[in-house]
Parts: sequence; C-alpha cells; structure tokens
Amino acid sequence: MYAIQIQQEQPDRPLVWQESADPVIGPDEVRVMIHATALNRADLAQRAGHYPPPGAPDILGLEMAGTVSEVGANAQQWRPGDPVCALLGGGGYAEAVAVHQEMLMPIPLGWSFEEAAALPEVYLTAFVNLFMEAALQPGESVLVHGGASGVGTAAIQLLHHAGHAVFVTAGTPEKVARCRELGADVAINYREEDFVAAIWTATGGAGVDVILDMVGGDYYERNVDLLKLKGRMVFIATLGGSQAPLDIGRLMRKRLRLIGSVLRARSPAEKIEIKQRFMDRFWPAVTAGQIRPVLDRVYPVQEANAAHAHMAANQNIGKIVLKVRD
Ligand SMILES: NC(=O)c1ccc[n+]([C@@H]2O[C@H](COP(=O)([O-])OP(=O)(O)OC[C@H]3O[C@@H](n4cnc5c(N)ncnc54)[C@H](OP(=O)(O)O)[C@@H]3O)[C@@H](O)[C@H]2O)c1
Repeated sequence: MYAIQIQQEQPDRPLVWQESADPVIGPDEVRVMIHATALNRADLAQRAGHYPPPGAPDILGLEMAGTVSEVGANAQQWRPGDPVCALLGGGGYAEAVAVHQEMLMPIPLGWSFEEAAALPEVYLTAFVNLFMEAALQPGESVLVHGGASGVGTAAIQLLHHAGHAVFVTAGTPEKVARCRELGADVAINYREEDFVAAIWTATGGAGVDVILDMVGGDYYERNVDLLKLKGRMVFIATLGGSQAPLDIGRLMRKRLRLIGSVLRARSPAEKIEIKQRFMDRFWPAVTAGQIRPVLDRVYPVQEANAAHAHMAANQNIGKIVLKVRD
C-alpha cells in the first residue's frame, strides 16, 4: 500500500506519499481500506519528532473513515464493504489500516467519508473530558478555549445538544461567528477582549463550572478566577505554555479540581469504553444530523504538507481532512 512517510533526515521533515508495508490484521481486528483521514494537532508534534507512545505506528493519523476489506476470525460482526470510521493509535495517513473490531463506528447514512473521518478524535476527546473526566452535571456551564479548533467545534455541539451554557474563546471574528452558529451562547475574541471580564459580565459574576483548556500558561490563573466553587478545569494541551504558578490555598478555598488528560496514550480497552459511552449518549443526535463535524478544508493526501501548514498557521475552523481515495 501507499502511506505518508516523514522524511526524518530533512530539516523541515516533509511528508511524502510512498510505498509502505501493508497492515496485517489480528483475530480481533478488521482491515479497512481508508477513503479519508483527518489532521489533529498531535500530528504536527509527531512530525516535529515528538514521538508517539511506544507501540503506536510510525505513520501519522489518529482517525480515518473507509470500508471494511477483511475481517479477523473473531471480528465477525463486520462484513467486507461496511462503511466505518474509527479512532486510531496512528496509521491513518495510509491506504489501509488494521483496527480492533470494537473501535469501529458505522458511518451514519448520508455522510461522506470526509465527514466521517473528522468525527472520532475530536468528538471522543470532547466527550471524555467534559462528560467523563469533568463529570459535567445537568445545568452546569462550560468555558471552552480554542472554540473554533477541531476539538472546540465538537465540544460546542455536544454541550449545546446536552443543554449546557457554552462560553468559548477564539482568535478571529470569523472564528467567533462560527462558534456562535454552532451553539456557543457567548463567544469572545480573546485578541480584542479580556475573556475574564466578558464572562464575568455575561454570568453576572457567577463564573463557570467547567473549563476545557488547551492553552495552559498564563490562562491558568484567569481560569481559576472564573471557576465557581467546586469547579473543574481539564487540561488537554499546553499551546500557550506548560508552566503556571499554583496557589494551593486558592484551590482549596474554591474546592477546585484540576484534571490532566490525554486520549492517545490510553489503553485500547479504555478507548473502546469511551467510544461506547459516546455512542450510547450521542449517537441518536449524530444519526439525526444534529451533531455533524465542521469541515474546514479537504486536501488530497498527497498534499499533506500544505494541510499541515494550514493547521500550523491556526487558520482552520473545525477539521482539515485528507482524501485518500474516491
Ligand atoms: N489531551 C488530549 O487527549 C487531546 C486530544 C485531541 C486534541 N488535543 C489538543 O487539543 C488542541 C486542539 O486540537 P485540534 O486538533 O482541535 O487543534 P486545531 O484545530 O489545530 O486548533 C487549535 C487552535 O488553538 C488556538 N491556539 C493555538 N495556539 C494558541 C495559543 N498560544 N493561545 C491560544 N489559542 C491558541 C488556535 O485558534 P485561535 O485562532 O482561536 O487562537 C488554533 O487554531 C491541540 O492542542 C491538541 O493537541 C488534546
């Protein structure tokens, strides 16, 4: 098969579509012919040389959509030709991949492969961090930083659908407008407005119950300011820096919980449980079209370098997809 390989020896580590080893399936796995895959910020880090957890494939790509082409001896719930999508430990930027049968989700009727490829990573990330890690309760409010990111657009939709008040930050007027269209109650351009003051005003000084944070750094103290008593802050990335001053007394007085979370390094059993709980709660809304990935651009897989440059420039609203075959 063909797959994207990182040219490690060259300084900018270009991505090249070239002949690669075919995946071999185990008894609990199915082989999927990939039609589309999608970018995630972690792909940029992996390409830069921050390697994936041991055991993950060298090939980039944390999700894909395609058709089943072969099933393992214990994977008889799937049939060749079934349209599926899945979260992957890696290997999505390729023509084929082996996936555990229980990681697969059927592609909803009427969805393109490009849309389906954009679903697994960001919706499962938003779901696990908001509804499992932060244990969001009915009526609680949430602030999502990076509202127009892939994860942010998924989080807004899930929260809006579940009836939570959603506050977001984003870096351009276009991003802010799109977040509002997706269901954000308050969307703040953090480059033009102090998000703490804006949320204080919008909540009458109450603050929020949960913050989904991908920025870290100097957002930490501002996030603590905004959290209500017994609030929770879930860190999923450190785009603005990984160091922050910690006033333990303040955390105690507000009875706050700080949660660090990654999806990729979790065991297959944990990922399967997250997928199942996501489907139990949100699949009816997915199949009804109430929750649908936001596609920014679709590139042919051979143009993966341009797709990465687009993400690195923070230009995307929602997901950037790579089309692998028609
Ligand atoms: N822990 C996990 O399990 C997990 C899983 C998936 C993703 N993630 C992380 O979650 C983040 C979002 O992922 P994604 O694939 O959805 O990313 P994405 O679509 O590339 O969006 C990231 C956005 O973050 C904003 N941003 C970048 N640098 C920033 C900074 N210094 N301060 C404030 N905002 C900044 C930019 O939007 P603006 O123009 O609005 O600033 C950018 O478009 C990534 O960092 C990713 O690594 C974590």
